[in-house]
Amino acid sequence: MQPTRFLTGITTSGTPHLGNYVGSIRPAVRASQTPGVESYYFLADYHALIKIEDPERIQRSTLEIAASWLAAGLDPARVVFYRQSDVPEIPELSWLLTCVTGKGILNRAHAYKAAVDKNTEAGLDPDSDVTAGLYMYPVLMGADILLFNAHKVPVGRDQVQHIEMARDMANSFNHRYGEHFVPPQAVIEEAVATLPGLDGRKMSKSYDNTIPLFASRAQLQKLIASLKTDSRLPHEPKETEGSALFQIFQAFASAEETQSLRQRYAQGIAWSEAKQLLLERIDQEIAPMRARYQHLIDHPQEVEALLLEGAQKARASATPFMHQLRHAVGLRPLPTGAGPAQAKASKTALASFKQYREADGKFYFKLVHASGAVLLQSLAFDAPKLAGQTIANLVQDPAALDDSLPLLEALSAQQRATAEEALHALRQANAAAA
Ligand code: TRP
Repeated sequence: MQPTRFLTGITTSGTPHLGNYVGSIRPAVRASQTPGVESYYFLADYHALIKIEDPERIQRSTLEIAASWLAAGLDPARVVFYRQSDVPEIPELSWLLTCVTGKGILNRAHAYKAAVDKNTEAGLDPDSDVTAGLYMYPVLMGADILLFNAHKVPVGRDQVQHIEMARDMANSFNHRYGEHFVPPQAVIEEAVATLPGLDGRKMSKSYDNTIPLFASRAQLQKLIASLKTDSRLPHEPKETEGSALFQIFQAFASAEETQSLRQRYAQGIAWSEAKQLLLERIDQEIAPMRARYQHLIDHPQEVEALLLEGAQKARASATPFMHQLRHAVGLRPLPTGAGPAQAKASKTALASFKQYREADGKFYFKLVHASGAVLLQSLAFDAPKLAGQTIANLVQDPAALDDSLPLLEALSAQQRATAEEALHALRQANAAAA
């Protein structure tokens, strides 16, 4: 069965809070552990530039968000975890998509329309203080998604329109240039209600009512003490309905724990005691992650190395795919001449097999794209003949890749499609030469 590819971006514009943890980090980490799922999670730092002009803040937020996801259990060996700006194919694809996206579609994007409405209401020029970056935001997001042919994109409700636009871009590109993109689908986590903040409104940076995910226990205690409650006295029964304290507790607790707090409410638990229970419940889940978080914040070079490794994994498929897309739209090397010379020029763009021996004494091969990207990597062979035979099969037999999968390092669906394409081109070139 083909794995389902999930992809989502996190804008590097702030410090993660409990609402981000419950609404996005925790479900994403859990989803990434599901068999049959391939996850791409990335730090959307190009998107952050649209909102934030402070370079230090962008950098700091990148570190804090990466450290938070890793501390919360994201396994970079299982997941492709990278920083958007380390993948130059994203802005490159963004331009190709710009050229197939109707300007009228972008006029209707919620964030842009909201800015225009606000200006119009204030009697200003409609585009006053609107950057082209804000306007183009959905296209960059489309490139994020389509470059990896993600099937599912977990996002908040406010982002659904952007995923629909990405579908439109995929369809218009495919319509013009052939089937290259999978139209993605939004996935909205219906189960997680948004977490209320300290003042009872939705927890959000813009309301300044957040509890930082990695606040110290002492800070956490202080913030919870300031959580808004009603003025009911100890012993008076309390309402769970509309109680921010109760809702936050519920987001961390089991069904039984929640039921028990519900009873305590009815019995008239004192707010101070309820706050103590909340503190303990949150701390029980977060405390084990704090040490890892602090370690990563103190050792940014470790985070940097992980992100660069992630970018390398991402580019292993993105580079050849972008090559394919450039070719599709006509951004191609010029033929060096007529006839045989032309055949030669296209031959140089073919992928090739390399056979080699490692220090372990075993024999290996890989299929390398003209760009240098590795398309297939074999496992170890005891004898060079076996490696050679496998290569010969792959070159000759269109069904051989399926049979050879047990001899190769695991491939994502997209890597596999790219490899099939390269093998197909090799076979054609061989047939033409024969
Ligand atoms: N715009 C998203 C947000 O603000 C972040 C984001 C950027 C994203 N690129 C993405 C989300 C691609 C999903 C897929 O939440």
